[in-house]
Amino acid sequence: MEDVRSTENARSAGRAWRSVPAPGALPLLGHALTLRRRPLEFLASLPARGDLVEVRLGPRPAYVVCHPDLVHAVLADPRTYDKGGPLFDKVRPLLGNGLGTSGWAAHRRQRRLVGPAFHRARVDGYAAGMLQEIEALAGSWRPGHVLDVGVAMQALTARATARTLFSADITERDVADIQHCLAVLFGGVYRRMTAPLGLWEKLPTPANRRFRLALARLRELIDRIVDDYARAGRAGGGRDDRGDLLSALMAPSDEGAGEGADEGVSVLSADELRDQVMTLLVAGTEPTGHAMAWAFHLLGTHPEVEGRLHEELDTVLAGRPAGVTDLPRLAYTRRVLTEVLRLYPPGWMFTRTTTAATELAGRRLAPGTTVLYSPYALHRDPRHFPRPDSFDPDRWLPHRAKDVPRGALLPFGAGTRRCVGEHFGTTEAMLTIATVGARWRLRPVPGRAVRPRPETTLGTGPLPMRAEPRGAGARSAGG
Ligand code: HEM
Repeated sequence: MEDVRSTENARSAGRAWRSVPAPGALPLLGHALTLRRRPLEFLASLPARGDLVEVRLGPRPAYVVCHPDLVHAVLADPRTYDKGGPLFDKVRPLLGNGLGTSGWAAHRRQRRLVGPAFHRARVDGYAAGMLQEIEALAGSWRPGHVLDVGVAMQALTARATARTLFSADITERDVADIQHCLAVLFGGVYRRMTAPLGLWEKLPTPANRRFRLALARLRELIDRIVDDYARAGRAGGGRDDRGDLLSALMAPSDEGAGEGADEGVSVLSADELRDQVMTLLVAGTEPTGHAMAWAFHLLGTHPEVEGRLHEELDTVLAGRPAGVTDLPRLAYTRRVLTEVLRLYPPGWMFTRTTTAATELAGRRLAPGTTVLYSPYALHRDPRHFPRPDSFDPDRWLPHRAKDVPRGALLPFGAGTRRCVGEHFGTTEAMLTIATVGARWRLRPVPGRAVRPRPETTLGTGPLPMRAEPRGAGARSAGG
């Protein structure tokens, strides 16, 4: 008998789901061009059409899960809905088989290995290193200085990630290289994913050459970080636990748990180690950098929200530098960040692939079917978020937030594949918003329209802003 797994659970069982095709499929291309040219508008239009919407990526059908309960059901069953589908297939050449891309069978072991480095207490311990980087950035600006906030935030997150997780001091040149390579690679991955017939990446184009060079350069940098670390460890007499992530990844195995690892040998092979370091450098840099850039853009264009944020910072910090123990009292700052992540979730679309025949919203899905979920589309659904396009941090006041259904807000995903770096990323973003906001007002440069740039992650594109010192709160502006 055919084994059909059911994804029904208590929340989704017995419901009359609307399962419909999306309009506008072109012969042969399906919705691939729409997804390439105006993906945000397209995805955000789907929840009004149905709970499970069929789209076509070229000739292949794929299903966009548009109802929070169905998304929850998919994410709660990572064995049936495994990492895969066009996004992860195209991102694998970059991230290999690291924590974010590995399949269900390898994932548990990897998460056990990496997870402890992201527990709350460990992240609170990284805060001092993050703050030094944040202070150095905010201290380098001068009144009237125009900076590209998107570029500055990516540089900050690259430095803070390398320093806290890998104890690596990276040079200005390395930071510029990481930014350049990530821009090339993340743009290229998205183009490959939406190339109608999968031919694009096979052509000998300059863009494909740039993609290969960027990948090689980033790998070289990762190898150098790992080699330097190992060399410093040997110089320190072998067993070297610096309390960071790289120590955990390079520690000898007690369980012999690694694929091909014997007892007493490093838990991970050299390739596995590189994949994990690459994954964590990339995942630690891109999304948090984008979230912070969006935060400053939205604050700069919403003066009354910015005014209330400054009031809170002036009251809670009273001119002191922000620290991790201040974060629980920065309730408005937290609401601002939550609302930023609702409007512009850096991870705006993800794919899965079914590993067995299954049923979703009453529809049978064959093994190997692509399923998509989009935090962006869920977050803009007016049924769950009235006036969904407006920036309203107070929608996260407890008496209003209680009306938001579980699963409607998913900036960090859900289930066992939920973001491992959530606390790391939010701590870094809160400390940055607080440190910058206590001293500086970042003003938009007139005449520059900012449009979301949906690639592998959701960036701002160029974001020039002028740094103006704040009056009383700007005691230490400029250093
Ligand atoms: C605001 C910042 C961040 C956002 C919005 C974010 C978002 C996400 C999302 C939505 C997922 C789930 C993807 C899926 O369902 O396929 C994810 C997974 C992941 N994130 Fe984050 N992330 C952030 C920061 C970070 C940081 C700082 C790190 C590491 C330093 C990190 C590392 C990872 C990893 C390794 C995974 C894969 C987890 C697994 O499969 O077990 N993220 N992230």
